[in-house]
Amino acid sequence: MKVDGKQMRPIWFDKDTETVQVIDQRFLPHQLIIRELTHVDEVIEAIQEMVVRGAPLIGATGALGVYVILVQEGNQGMDDAWFSRQCDRLKNARPTAANLCWGVNRVQAKVLEQTSHDPRVQAALNEALAIIEEEADNCKKIGVHGRVLIQEIAGRNPGKPVNILTHCNAGWLACIEYGTATAPIYTAHDAGIPIHVWVDETRPLNQGARLTAWELGKHGIAHTVITDNAGGHLMQHGRVDLVIVGTDRTTRAGDVANKIGTYLKALAARDNDIPFYVALPGSTFDWDITDGIRDIPIENRDPDEIRYVQGWHNDEITQVRITPEDSPAANHAFDVTPARLVTGFITEKGVCDASESAITALYADRFKTDV
Ligand code: MRU
Repeated sequence: MKVDGKQMRPIWFDKDTETVQVIDQRFLPHQLIIRELTHVDEVIEAIQEMVVRGAPLIGATGALGVYVILVQEGNQGMDDAWFSRQCDRLKNARPTAANLCWGVNRVQAKVLEQTSHDPRVQAALNEALAIIEEEADNCKKIGVHGRVLIQEIAGRNPGKPVNILTHCNAGWLACIEYGTATAPIYTAHDAGIPIHVWVDETRPLNQGARLTAWELGKHGIAHTVITDNAGGHLMQHGRVDLVIVGTDRTTRAGDVANKIGTYLKALAARDNDIPFYVALPGSTFDWDITDGIRDIPIENRDPDEIRYVQGWHNDEITQVRITPEDSPAANHAFDVTPARLVTGFITEKGVCDASESAITALYADRFKTDV
């Protein structure tokens, strides 16, 4: 996607320096800082500290992280036990997004097909770059399928903008291109459909206020940042036509883990008869589980992310404490929305109901090849 006229992705492989480069999302929207990742410890830190974040991007970073393992200084890439330990460390960097293990596993398997070092490095790079291109293409397709839903709403209300509410950042910064939740928004906007987006600020790290608002603004899409608790009120007053969110892990039965607060939006949407869609690529489905509340690992993050808030003041990024000095805080980073509250999924393969039969029918080819 374009930032001030320049084509950008949140992660890329620089052919000249042969290094992995990422946008450091902690500093957006105030500063656009690029970081280079040359050691698996840096890749793990980048995932944990949320230099990179969002399920598909975490998957892509893990994939390129396997390449980094094989080229970092002092690597023991031909020692399979060492290599597998480093891959495990990568997979454990954050627990909730399904894409991380998926991306690392895919590249790890390709590496182990090779029996000497240079072909291993090449196999890792090729597979990681293939994943990145596939995920970009998946997001593009999600945009095409999701646009139809927006177009239907626009057709029922000629001349009026379609009001879409989204939570967290499931935009191109969280993916590679287009985003998941934002892909239908970008595609509809580019097709001339008038759109306005309600952007949940998404405490505690404000991915909505910082990242989604920045992305939408750069693309010229009308949007308004709201507090996390405003969505229900707006829905009661007819000011939301559609909710679209992303997801970090979705069970094969359709339970959806996403940024904390998503479940409350789904409840409010159901109470107000507003469609609640979840946009995701196949890499975010966890095919092994059906009960999301019981089985999806929910990350607990540093309570200081709640106790302190970060912003831009006097030309620099500053943190201020907002709680009493000794008040404890609990930072549950994700919640699970049960499938019964989800109207449907927007995927690269099309739109389907939130049920095991509909999801597995849509991905039937996967089951044919795997069995
Ligand atoms: O903690 P984060 O910022 O990694 O959480 C991201 C989200 O919850 C996104 O909504 C989700 O990954 C979908 S991204 C396409």
